[in-house]
Amino acid sequence: MIDLKQQTIETYERAAREMARKFEGIGTRVDDVERVFGLVGKEHPFVLEIGCGYGREAAEFLLRTDRYIGVDISEEFIRMAREAFPEAKFEVADIETYGFPEGLDAVVAFASLLHSDRDHVANILARAHAALVPGGIFYLSLKEGEYPEEGSIRTDEFGTRTFYFYTPDLIRKFAGTGYEAVYENRQSLRGQDWFTLALRKK
Ligand SMILES: C[S@@+](CC[C@H](N)C(=O)[O-])C[C@H]1O[C@@H](n2cnc3c(N)ncnc32)[C@H](O)[C@@H]1O
Repeated sequence: MIDLKQQTIETYERAAREMARKFEGIGTRVDDVERVFGLVGKEHPFVLEIGCGYGREAAEFLLRTDRYIGVDISEEFIRMAREAFPEAKFEVADIETYGFPEGLDAVVAFASLLHSDRDHVANILARAHAALVPGGIFYLSLKEGEYPEEGSIRTDEFGTRTFYFYTPDLIRKFAGTGYEAVYENRQSLRGQDWFTLALRKK
């Protein structure tokens, strides 16, 4: 049987440079990065970005803090991020098993938890909660839709990847009572619904 997660990772690994060219066209999420810093409300906060890819948003984070860590499962993306920002800290890691550093002010996941099923997403939210300082922010964007039990297997010009769709309500439910939602926004991009949610650790 095909390991869907391994297949997804191999697609990122193989197509990282072509994907980077396409993702570059999407543009940096400057507004979201500014919103993260606004919600945190601290000078030089400790920020962990999960699924940082080749570091497009890292550029914006690094303008505003010297305490940033970018994590991605793709060695090739992390190689590219290190080439672009040799002074910054990047790690190759699987967020589903990653040991979060303590004392985080913000955990940010732009379009990266969309390859993790709901048990893993719930577990990531719980582990991040333990690592965030009180008042810390978990900021995420995800594809919106009905949760596909078996995952939604999609093939495009880069290869095959498995996606999971979520709703803000589902994420709030997984987040539980230890977080409160402080920002929510919905967008439609090229025929796909997305949402952004910011959760504050109580
Ligand atoms: C759709 S891309 C988004 C990349 C970037 N955040 C952006 O918005 O352009 C998903 C990213 O998540 C990474 N990723 C997928 N599963 C992961 C996992 N289990 N742990 C860490 N990173 C993962 C992929 O390698 C890829 O860089």
